[in-house]
Amino acid sequence: MTVKTYLILNGPNLDRLGKREPALYGTATLADLQKRLEKTAAGLGVGVAFAQYNGEGEMIDAIHSVADKYDGCVINAAAYTHYSVAIRDAIASVDKPFVEVHLTNVFAREEFRARSVIAPVCRGSVSGFGFLSYELALRALANE
Ligand code: DQA
Repeated sequence: MTVKTYLILNGPNLDRLGKREPALYGTATLADLQKRLEKTAAGLGVGVAFAQYNGEGEMIDAIHSVADKYDGCVINAAAYTHYSVAIRDAIASVDKPFVEVHLTNVFAREEFRARSVIAPVCRGSVSGFGFLSYELALRALANE
């Protein structure tokens, strides 16, 4: 039996977690998220790989890599969520499940954050639960 492996892909400015607007995003870092998800994955009997890019092109290359290397993807496209048709098209080009996540509740913030151009091409979305958003998304993928 092959172990299913999922890419946890984080977009721009998420490398600044822990320092970035802590009142909104908390003080835990991306490395802390990775540790927590590795434990969650072990409990679910699945594998996880992690990537973070600030650039749109690098994000698109990582999304394409899901086609051949992974069973699905948990994606926090950060600000690109709200306007990147290129990232939406990249997700649509890959025949694997993607789950959109956000640390904060994007519907409870500025109006421009309430729009996600990637939501229609994702299996589902989890928003507003901090690191738990990623755990719930991983659980959903492992349950496919
Ligand atoms: C975010 C929400 C986005 O609106 C924002 O641009 C981010 C982080 C979140 O995880 O809450 O960078 O995706």
